[in-house]
Amino acid sequence: MNNFKFQNPTKILFGKGQIASLKDELPQDAKILLLYGGGSIKKNGIYEQVTSALGDREVVEFGGIPANPEYAKLLEALAVIKQQDITFILAVGGGSVIDGAKFLSAAALYEGDEPWDILTNNISTKEGMPFATVLTLPATGSEMNSGSVITRAETKEKLAMGGPGLFPVFSILDPQVIHSIPRRQLANGITDAFTHVLEQYMTYPTGAYLQDRLSESILQTLIEVAPKVLKDPTDYTAASNFMWSCTMALNGLISKGVPTDWAVHAMGHELTALYGIDHARTLAVIAPSHYTYNFEAKKEKLAQYAERVWNITDGSTEDKARAAIQRTEEFFHELDIDTKLSQYTDDYEGTAEEVSKRFTERGWKALGEHQSLKPSDAEQIVRMAY
Ligand code: NZQ
Ligand code: ZN
Repeated sequence: MNNFKFQNPTKILFGKGQIASLKDELPQDAKILLLYGGGSIKKNGIYEQVTSALGDREVVEFGGIPANPEYAKLLEALAVIKQQDITFILAVGGGSVIDGAKFLSAAALYEGDEPWDILTNNISTKEGMPFATVLTLPATGSEMNSGSVITRAETKEKLAMGGPGLFPVFSILDPQVIHSIPRRQLANGITDAFTHVLEQYMTYPTGAYLQDRLSESILQTLIEVAPKVLKDPTDYTAASNFMWSCTMALNGLISKGVPTDWAVHAMGHELTALYGIDHARTLAVIAPSHYTYNFEAKKEKLAQYAERVWNITDGSTEDKARAAIQRTEEFFHELDIDTKLSQYTDDYEGTAEEVSKRFTERGWKALGEHQSLKPSDAEQIVRMAY
């Protein structure tokens, strides 16, 4: 096991009716920016629960953060923060709204001229404006981590940022919020969380028994609850296990002391940036090709995953590893998630070259757990995913 430091300061308030605890958790004297997305919270009762818990605090609302939070829109929110002397941000939404809040938290205290530099220059945010979240969509884990991914339509870019100052102060996780989530977004959430675990697990054996079993248990739980959540989002047992699995998949715990990959996300983000494909679906497109292309480096963990998660026990290490890739792709299909780029766009020719070119321009020359994947490897993986 590798050395590690672990600190996660986000307080979690989990369970039925927890949105009401905003009343006690939010600082009384704060001037709050209530940040939300395209309006789903106004149809499903979450907005009413939030506003009634806010009491007589001073609140400015800012809605309209789109899926894949857009830089231009966030700059409008940043202007409001500055004009209105906001001191605290409350994000009510899924990963996009929460990531938007993280960008605003960093940008509000950033002293440079162009906040986009935070993303392009990899500036780690040590201190941001305090913010909290009410999670409405289990998927990204953003509610308990310090990362954020921001999109800029103008340049078709989607880049990540983060830093120790970007953990939410607290996050409210009421599994009942999933009642109103469309099936497609539920499937996305399962797929995203599942792939988060794979990115931190599907590397090579390092004798980290506990981390491996934590990862495998999250994967098994997601597999168990997926059909139940899709069939009936009001099944509270399924919803609560789904929600907590998504948070646990990317709150930093399972990656401690082990190598991580994240190349599937790096390539996937380009597909969203270029074609607007839902984040989770880009992962389902890339992951099978990535594991096939890097088969030799990953076959031992693939075989372990086959045995422990999918109960595939016959054959050699290679046989089990191959069967695991196939079973993973079938799992995505069971969620009605397509796993080929050509199923999302007719315009896919040239994508592999474009991804490779972008990685080269950004100096991303060493992806994966061995830092051995070059832009030319990404090009081949993306082409395999056509
Ligand atoms: O905008 P509204 O009206 O809220 O509707 C949203 C949106 O259309 C809807 N929705 C959310 N909660 C709902 C609901 N509809 C009905 N009932 C509810 N309770 O769902 C749609 C998608 O929302 P979005 O926030 O975009 O989804 P998700 O949580 O999957 O977030 C995706 C974003 O997170 C980034 C992705 O790249 C993408 O930009 N990620 C963030 C990560 C992080 N910060 O750690 C890691 C991930 O790998 C990912 O990259
Ligand atoms: Zn993801």
